Amino acid sequence: MSQNQTPLFSGLLQHAKRNPIQFHIPGHKKGAGIDPEFRQFIGDNALSIDLINIGPLDDLHHPKGMIKQAQELAAKAFGADHTFFSVQGTSGAIMTMVMAVCGPGEKIIVPRNVHKSVMSAIVFSGAIPVFIHPEIDEKLGISHGITTDSVEKALEQHPDAKAVLVINPTYFGVSADLKKIVEIAHSYHIPVLVDEAHGVHIHFHDELPLSAMQAGADMAATSVHKLGGSMTQSSVLNVKEGLVSVKHVQSILSMLTTTSTSYLLLASLDVARKQLAVKGRDLIDKTIRLAGTMRKRINEIDHLYCAGEEILGSKAAYDYDPMKLIISVKDLGLTGYEVEKWLREKHNIEVELSDLYNILCIVTFGDTEYEADQLVNALKDLSLEFEHSAAKTEPVEVLLPEIPVLALTPRDAFYSETEVVPFEESAGRIIAEFVMVYPPGIPIIIPGEIMTKENLHYIKKNLEAGLPVQGPEDDDLKTIHVIKEYKAIL
Ligand SMILES: Cc1ncc(COP(=O)(O)O)c(C=O)c1O
Repeated sequence: MSQNQTPLFSGLLQHAKRNPIQFHIPGHKKGAGIDPEFRQFIGDNALSIDLINIGPLDDLHHPKGMIKQAQELAAKAFGADHTFFSVQGTSGAIMTMVMAVCGPGEKIIVPRNVHKSVMSAIVFSGAIPVFIHPEIDEKLGISHGITTDSVEKALEQHPDAKAVLVINPTYFGVSADLKKIVEIAHSYHIPVLVDEAHGVHIHFHDELPLSAMQAGADMAATSVHKLGGSMTQSSVLNVKEGLVSVKHVQSILSMLTTTSTSYLLLASLDVARKQLAVKGRDLIDKTIRLAGTMRKRINEIDHLYCAGEEILGSKAAYDYDPMKLIISVKDLGLTGYEVEKWLREKHNIEVELSDLYNILCIVTFGDTEYEADQLVNALKDLSLEFEHSAAKTEPVEVLLPEIPVLALTPRDAFYSETEVVPFEESAGRIIAEFVMVYPPGIPIIIPGEIMTKENLHYIKKNLEAGLPVQGPEDDDLKTIHVIKEYKAIL
């Protein structure tokens, strides 16, 4: 089959054209039984292919027909031995990767700034995380990747680890020397799992960092929906055979996946793969140029800084994705969140994320000069409006969360007897919940770690800035679950 073909999407269209009388789920029956207002909005076309795994339409859990063909085309496009489609985002694919290689009590080497899905998988599997400190960019106040030296050191100390997990590229678009990391891990016969949530496109353009499959990694969980043009929630899990078993990966993925897989999501993966394989290079080329012009124009605006290739050079910041615009706003005397809100209210612009110091804007092949101008002009207005506060701003001290000490495995902490204490009084206690800012969803503290005063201060700063701190059962973060301590009876 050629990359121009879309066996899954075309198969669904053919099926819908036959217009069979349906006595199966989904019960809306091609939209006839759905709320009319929603039906009118979403359209009959979409509803006609909102189908289920009946005989002619194959089954994601045991693909033998059009899903198998679509996955094979995707594997070719991504340079994998096998590609699995995920309708549960990259989170589902990440949990599969971790659970496919790690069991209870087995070690996995991971950077501490991992997405919460990695930590969830560690809790589910009962694995023991061996954390590597990511490199910190103190100017921007963000974490980058991990260095080859730290991977080497971790493997020397833990040659019995079952896998090394790497985030490549990070949410902010920075990547490590993945090829070298793979070489080091493979010299220990240890597989490398890549969180490629932010890197579906990098495989398709040679000016972008190496993709997981190009670097020789064993598995990669890749969000096609984030930057590759498929629908939200659709991702792929790419696998290279050798250190991991494709059959085992399939059965874990199946265990973690709904039996009612959305064919709209699956079809969107099929067409996104076609677009990336056939036109990806040209589309990405235009996007890189567009983002480059935007970066240059933003850097001409007073008090703003848009990071570019000058941030590279360290071992952890080895390469970067120029389609990500990290815009530092701290010299305006504002937090990233204040700028996010200002852009929303004054210019109807929504950014990807904000933190204490930055906003992050992603530029994709869905953007044109029009959107670029809107953002640049809005940022010019911003700089003028806050000229005043910028003049008064002392150099901002960048605050980053200290990495807490792990006292219990995340699983033991998660399942331990707990008690609720006031959040302010939790320093020194072993925490039983996750606390993270979402996005980006990187935990500040995970179950099993000891809260410090610095962590509390960092969380409070994020809350004060209005950033979305999430995780604990108590949404307002007035209280938190900690491991129960038994005091001696008097
Ligand atoms: C670094 C990283 N990994 C994994 C994920 C999970 O991806 P998904 O939303 O497709 O489940 C995200 C989502 O934001 C992420 O930022």
